[in-house]
Order: sequence, then C-alpha cells, then structure tokens
Amino acid sequence: MKELIKRLVETFGPSGDELAVRELIRGEIEDQVDQIEVDTMGNLIALKKGQDDSNKVMLAAHMDEIGLIATHIEEEGFIRFSNVGGVSPYNLLGERVLFNGETIGVIDKEGKLDDISKLKHDKMYVDIGATTQEEAEEKIKIGDTATYYRQLDLVGNRLVAKGLDDRAGCAVLIETIKQLTEQPTFDTYFVFTVQEEVGTRGAITSSYGINPDVGIAVDLTLTGDTPEAKRMAVSLGEGPAIKVKDRSVLVNPQLKNLMIDLAEENEIPYQLEVLDRGGTDTGRMQLSREGAIAGAISIPGRYVHSPSEMIDLTDLENSIKLLSEILQSDYQGLF
Ligand code: CO
Ligand code: ZN
Repeated sequence: MKELIKRLVETFGPSGDELAVRELIRGEIEDQVDQIEVDTMGNLIALKKGQDDSNKVMLAAHMDEIGLIATHIEEEGFIRFSNVGGVSPYNLLGERVLFNGETIGVIDKEGKLDDISKLKHDKMYVDIGATTQEEAEEKIKIGDTATYYRQLDLVGNRLVAKGLDDRAGCAVLIETIKQLTEQPTFDTYFVFTVQEEVGTRGAITSSYGINPDVGIAVDLTLTGDTPEAKRMAVSLGEGPAIKVKDRSVLVNPQLKNLMIDLAEENEIPYQLEVLDRGGTDTGRMQLSREGAIAGAISIPGRYVHSPSEMIDLTDLENSIKLLSEILQSDYQGLF
C-alpha cells in the first residue's frame, strides 16, 4: 500500500495533465477489471461487472493535484505564475516545484515581506537556474504547469507527501479492485477523474456518460485535531469519515445510514464529516442527468493542499474495508 501510494504521489499530474498518473493506474488494474476506457476528458473508467445489472454504481477518486501555471517569463529568466486549484502563496515560500515533470525550480517572493496575509502569487517567481529569458524558454513555455517537488515519507504510522489529495483515494479504489473476493452486487464503475481541483470538471462528463444510480466519491477531507485548528469533528486515525455535507452536496441520508450500519456491523471505526470548505466529485454525481443517490467516504487529512499533506495508514485500510462492504452489500433501503 505504502509503495503504491509512493508511486502515485511521486507521479506528475496537475489538473489538465493527468496522463502519467492515468497510465500508472491503468497498469495496476487493467488485468482485474471487465472493461476499461478513457473518455474524451481523460477520465479513466474501469468496470467490474456485478451479480445484478439492474443498478449502476459509480466510484470517483480524482487523479489530478493542485499546481502552478507559467504566465510570463522575465528577461532574467524568472518564471511568473498563477495557481491551478487551491494553492496558498505562503505554502510556496522556499518550496521546490517541478515543471512538466522534469524541470526543478525554487520559489521566492519580490522584496521584503511585512505581512504574509498580503502575499500574492503575482509577487512571487520561480527560479529554474536560467540566466536569460531565452535559456528559460528552452525548458518552460507559457502555460506549462508545475507541481510541488516532494517525496513521500513515512512518519510514525502516517504518510506525508504532496498529492495525497487525491492519490490516496485513487489507491483506495485500486486496492478495493484488487481485494474484492467476489463480484460486486451491482455493475460498479471505478472512475479516476480529471480536473477535480479546478471545479470537479471530469466528474461532470464521466457521470453523464455512466448515468449512475449510486455515486460514491473517495477523497481527502480536513481535520480539526491540530493546534488551534478551525473546529471540525474529524481526527486523523479515527477511521474513514462518512460524508454528510460539503459545499457541493447534501448526502443522501439512506446511503449515509447504509455506510454507518455497515461500519458498525463490521466493526470498522468511522466518523461523520461536515466539511465547510470545498466541494468534491460527490455533488457532480448527485446532479448528473436526472440525479443519483450520492455520498462519499472521506480520508482524514492534515495540511491538505500543502507540500506535506498527512494521512494515517489505518484510515486508509479502514476506508478500503468500508468501501468493499458497501460494494458487496444489498444496498438496503436505497431503492
Ligand atoms: Co484538493
Ligand atoms: Zn481532493
């Protein structure tokens, strides 16, 4: 599991450029699914046929990660940028980034900084070691994208890396495919979506194409368990968080209750999640076509969208267990 996540997070995949991540995931699962395809937007869609084809279940984990995009190259070779998704300027100070999966750069800001809350992306730059604009342009073009340049580390029983949002969710889907001992109850589409971080765009087209009856996202959520954290009743290591609400969705109560019942019956620890900040692919699945029964399993994460996101290994294992129980359940109370 740790080895799989290491390969996933260390693969370059900012929103809009998920190709390398997609090929890695395809290689992991293609022998173990009944059908696999890539749609026009770039979503990877893998089907595990169910015992019953009267309902369709869609699972969504996003392949993309937040990043930067080059907007201007200066005479001295410095790269100016804006963000792709939710990247805080202060998380970038002193950070190394990787353009196009190959060119390393260092980030700093103009002048002296009196107030960190006033720091803006357009007062910052990337130094890729070039001395002139021409030299920089040999490596970087306007519109090229970058991600944090970091490796995965194991810290106690916790993983620290960039891009755990949402390669950890991708790993949960991959491991669930590998660990399923019998056919799922219904036809189950494992969807690895694109462009979640810029407005859950891949989930729009993939859910339209699949037209699911039930949609379940697997993504990171936040926690309230660090010094003076904003109040939130989710902690690291206390189990997968069964989503109740985020800014994209009010979860179907019957699906939420099914997840709670299955967690309790199988002695899987769980928490309930109300996320005030940010949406997920869940809301797109719920609103696709004539609507779907939608919910989510959220992996608790600290420092989400920083270069050092943190998740707990037991939460991952329990997320896989809970998802597997759902897929093999009778979906009681839903239809
Ligand atoms: Co995110
Ligand atoms: Zn995410």
